[in-house]
Amino acid sequence: MQIHTTIASLRAARANAGKVALVPTMGNLHDGHIALMHEAVKQAGTVIASVFVNRLQFGPSEDFDRYPRTFEADCARLQAAGVGHVFAPHEAEMYPQPQGYHVEPPPEQAGILEGAFRPGHFRGVATVVLKLFNVVAPNVAVFGKKDYQQLMVIRNMVQQLALPINVVGLDTIRAADGLALSSRNGYLTPAERAEAPRLHRQLAAIADAVRQGQRDFAALEAAALTDLQQHGWQPDYLSVRRRADLQAPQSAADPLAVLAAARLGKTRLIDNLEI
Ligand code: PAF
Repeated sequence: MQIHTTIASLRAARANAGKVALVPTMGNLHDGHIALMHEAVKQAGTVIASVFVNRLQFGPSEDFDRYPRTFEADCARLQAAGVGHVFAPHEAEMYPQPQGYHVEPPPEQAGILEGAFRPGHFRGVATVVLKLFNVVAPNVAVFGKKDYQQLMVIRNMVQQLALPINVVGLDTIRAADGLALSSRNGYLTPAERAEAPRLHRQLAAIADAVRQGQRDFAALEAAALTDLQQHGWQPDYLSVRRRADLQAPQSAADPLAVLAAARLGKTRLIDNLEI
């Protein structure tokens, strides 16, 4: 496995590769990321994983500085997963000047749900992902559905900018008790970790109720929010949406998903389920 810290080195390696799959990450890899790597290995002969904690997508009071950086352990896992190249640029390589050009996703996609609570987040994500796409020129890019809105924004960016990249979304990997794997789970205290699967249980209860014909989404959402609050959570949102654009459901035929973000102690967790 080769490690590249410069764009020039990565591009030279990419020039000799055939079909390439890219898995963008911010490191601190867990089994969810490794599942993305395995999918990438199935998709293409050469797999490139990027490891870059992207300052642009963090708000001023968010966890950029304390985001866990575990590069050596990450590389061991990437190598074992069959990744051929790691692109791990320093910040000065990705952003040699303050980034003046940005990808501004449309507000109806980026200003709702996560975007309403993390202003500028998807602008930062779309900007770095387009830059990574420009550096790597992948044929395939693999993302997890855990960041469901991020996946929607990236799919739309690829479509609207006519990028020749097949975007693959992979189901969320969960712990045995249902908690979605996330780098931020490491922030939870043991007591919070024991409580954390409640978020998935509430989403699963809503998904079951909707599958059984319940259409009063507001009542389902309110009951779940109350239960979370009664157990010490501070929810940002919990909402049943259309899968395609994450707007409110319009017709009974709309494929749906239920998405949530909530704080448990100092940790903000997100999760979702397709219904
Ligand atoms: O999902 C993530 O880890 C990040 O948002 C991404 C896609 C690597 C961009 O920094």
